[in-house]
Amino acid sequence: MKKILTTVLAVSTFSMAGDLTLRDVMQKVDFETLKILQGFIWNNDLMVKEGAKAIADHPMPKGGAAKYIPPEKRQEFVKNMKSFERIVHGSAEDIVHLIEEGKREEAFKKYTNMVQGCMSCHSLFRGW
Ligand code: HEC
Repeated sequence: MKKILTTVLAVSTFSMAGDLTLRDVMQKVDFETLKILQGFIWNNDLMVKEGAKAIADHPMPKGGAAKYIPPEKRQEFVKNMKSFERIVHGSAEDIVHLIEEGKREEAFKKYTNMVQGCMSCHSLFRGW
């Protein structure tokens, strides 16, 4: 049931491309993160690659991410966003290449790195 719900959510998120809020984008990358994890657990390279590619090329929220952040945290967010994004995007791109080279274990390490990038940003900006 949960899986069906996630799929429905993801499909409706895709169909709004171009008009996404930060939450929409987050729900999409969350879906792809779970897809990558499932790909690793199932030994399904295609799933891992598809998820990682989708994260590397994820759409930007309408109007830029900063406007969704409370004004008092916005400046700090803009200052830090690039480094968190670099961890998430860089790791996602590395996952694609490592899987293509058949290096699953290294790819999985990059995956944990990527999720750490998600969590680092959340710990600073999701606490309101
Ligand atoms: C640059 C900072 C940043 C990064 C990196 C980031 N997030 Fe987020 N995320 C946020 C913020 C800020 C919110 C709160 C958005 C809101 O409530 O409007 C959020 C919210 C979410 C939510 C909740 C959405 C909802 O419906 O309330 C999920 C799920 C999520 N992020 C997943 C992820 C995943 C998975 C990654 C890594 C692939 C990630 N995020 C990377 C900043 C970030």
